[in-house]
Amino acid sequence: MITVVISNKKGGVGKTTTAYNLAAGLRKRGKSVLAIDLDPQCSLTKFCGVNKNGPTSFGVITKEVNINSAILKLEFFDLIPGSASLATADQTLPESVNRLMRIREALSELKTDYDYCIMDNAPAIGVVTVNAYMATDYVIIPAEANELSTDGIANVYESILDVKKYVNPHIQIAGILLTRYKPNTVLNREYSDIFNELAKGMGTKVFKTPIRENVNLSELPSIHVPIFDYKPGSTGAEDYNAFIDEFIKGVEK
Ligand SMILES: Nc1ncnc2c1ncn2[C@@H]1O[C@H](COP(=O)(O)OP(=O)(O)O)[C@@H](O)[C@H]1O
Ligand SMILES: [Mg+2]
Repeated sequence: MITVVISNKKGGVGKTTTAYNLAAGLRKRGKSVLAIDLDPQCSLTKFCGVNKNGPTSFGVITKEVNINSAILKLEFFDLIPGSASLATADQTLPESVNRLMRIREALSELKTDYDYCIMDNAPAIGVVTVNAYMATDYVIIPAEANELSTDGIANVYESILDVKKYVNPHIQIAGILLTRYKPNTVLNREYSDIFNELAKGMGTKVFKTPIRENVNLSELPSIHVPIFDYKPGSTGAEDYNAFIDEFIKGVEK
């Protein structure tokens, strides 16, 4: 199983939009996919149109439920929903060494052999996000191309360096994904150069495919259908398809 964390300490940069369409797009390519919502705001869960009570990722992290009984089999991919309680994890989890290993441990207990596990995260680097870093092979950092949100990226990078050094030597930044890209503005091109430099310094790359600003993508939270099914001819579908192909090429070598 290839594990992928979507993370940026900044909010509103397209993390959930990316997690949702990446999970759906991988599934369309014949892969089995488990997505886990680790954000107390539960945006990914809402994208999926799930709003019933039941086991959540918080229950898995606190070990109240087994990971296998927390999985919902949805139309576009399997999901472990989020919970507002995730916001309390920093206080709830015991001060033991294994408080950071809960997700890694849970994934090792999965009875289904998924090809991919995609984890969507809060715009914060608390105990839950670090749990995700501990468990993952790859991190994708979405960043809004129209503004210099480099602080959020630097924060992710610093945390990943620690995780890599002490606990999870396998973790790799797959790349920075430019989102909400407006190709025709001069400003944007300058920012692309800055992101390229930043990526180089972090030993990673900027994905060749930026995700353009697209009204259909902004409609997804209320539509509950991935862009490929909702508007297959849109620039949003075109960009996410190109990005997913590029991503797969990088990780399935
Ligand atoms: N490429 C895009 N074009 C237009 N709107 C987008 C695009 N990507 C994300 N959005 C919108 O921007 C907002 C923030 O995106 P979201 O994926 O929720 O970010 P995050 O998870 O980082 O907070 C949402 O309303 C979403 O619909
Ligand atoms: Mg989000």
